Amino acid sequence: MNQAAATEELSSIDLSDNDAFVDRVPFEWFDALRRADPVHWQPERRGRGFWAVTSHADVVAVGQDWATFSSQTGASALEDLAPDALAARRSMIDTDPPAHTELRQLVSAPFTFRSARDYEGLVQEISRQVLSSALVRSRFDFVEHVAAAVPIKVLCRLLGVPEEDEGLLIALGDQMIANTDPDLASVLLDGGQSEQYRLLPFRSPAALEMFDYSRRLCEARRRRPRPDLMTALLRGTVGGQPLPPREIDIMFLLLVVAGNETTRQAIALSVQALLDHPDQIAVLEDADDRGWRLAVEELLRWTTPLHHFRRTATRDVELNGSKIAAGDKVVVWYTSANRDERAFPDPYRLDLRRSPNPHTTFGRGGPHRCLGEHLARLELRVLMRELLPVLPRLEPSGRPVRIRSNFTNGLKRLPVQVR
Ligand code: HEM
Repeated sequence: MNQAAATEELSSIDLSDNDAFVDRVPFEWFDALRRADPVHWQPERRGRGFWAVTSHADVVAVGQDWATFSSQTGASALEDLAPDALAARRSMIDTDPPAHTELRQLVSAPFTFRSARDYEGLVQEISRQVLSSALVRSRFDFVEHVAAAVPIKVLCRLLGVPEEDEGLLIALGDQMIANTDPDLASVLLDGGQSEQYRLLPFRSPAALEMFDYSRRLCEARRRRPRPDLMTALLRGTVGGQPLPPREIDIMFLLLVVAGNETTRQAIALSVQALLDHPDQIAVLEDADDRGWRLAVEELLRWTTPLHHFRRTATRDVELNGSKIAAGDKVVVWYTSANRDERAFPDPYRLDLRRSPNPHTTFGRGGPHRCLGEHLARLELRVLMRELLPVLPRLEPSGRPVRIRSNFTNGLKRLPVQVR
């Protein structure tokens, strides 16, 4: 391709356009960017533009260098947050070390590799229960009846949320993370109405309901402590002081949203991938423990449930030939890094035996690497194992429907039937 054609190809790319992610992931855009301009200036429809970082090596480098690429001005929002909105919405994910380190320590005990291993029995029990209810029907929506049900049940057990409130938390979480999809959210991020909610996470009124819920649960745990995460948050201290109520609410919201929607999409997109690549089911049927570990890593690479996270440059810096100025937004695209041919030979092949597999699905290196990665892996492995006897008879029974979002890579519906 000549220079003029390459420039024209790049100028037609708009990663800020949520509509571009509705029918499919625009992988050809990421391929073009990695090839021609791996640290690319992306103008935005509603914003001041950002650097799109698309190669595996650069995505890893940005994640590791938190002092240059700070999370402090917002990590999950592409939105340019005013100082009051930032202060009101800041969670652990938008906090740099050293403050971040203490916050993370408060909630990390149930998420270590060892702790996650202890939940295997619980996750198996939940997976069996969810699958047996779903499989009563011969046709069902895999997202609603399986993929959405397992992660929230696990999370509710960890947080101490009673079973009858799971549905409420799913609905609130959906409205927040899918705040660019008119089917799921009543107030859209890119609609004028969201302005009145700009001090709330995701600019979503659902956050207020989540905070109310968190307060009620706090009260209940204050009266009667239990061995759960909410009780740990109440007892924990940062800088020698208990966490203020607002920070407890924000942490509760972060854990529910981060742990629920993402794992749901890893499960749903993995099943969709196996329906599209039935030859890979045999790999699972033959897998020993190591085989399952490799398979789960490849499913995580393949599905990449979150497309990107955001940083802000704290100083002028050059990255892979591009000159980034202090204050510029820098967006790392995990979706692109996970299809980078320099890190993954034949990246568009789903290969459940792939090894090594240095995917960036949970971030890679750096202080914000996903807190729940071991739990997410466990849920994916255990559920797929339980589903395996049915998988060869599972087939699509309608069109999968994707969420309108350039942040969450996900399905709203995955209609299936059992032959
Ligand atoms: C397949 C499922 C999941 C995916 C794809 C995923 C992805 C990610 C990514 C990419 C980050 C890095 C954010 C950044 O660098 O700014 C992250 C952070 C985080 N994840 Fe996950 N996640 C998943 C499951 C979970 C689960 C089950 C939990 C449990 C609550 C969780 C809780 C968190 C938290 C609290 C953070 C912030 C960590 C920090 O700021 O130190 N995630 N996740």
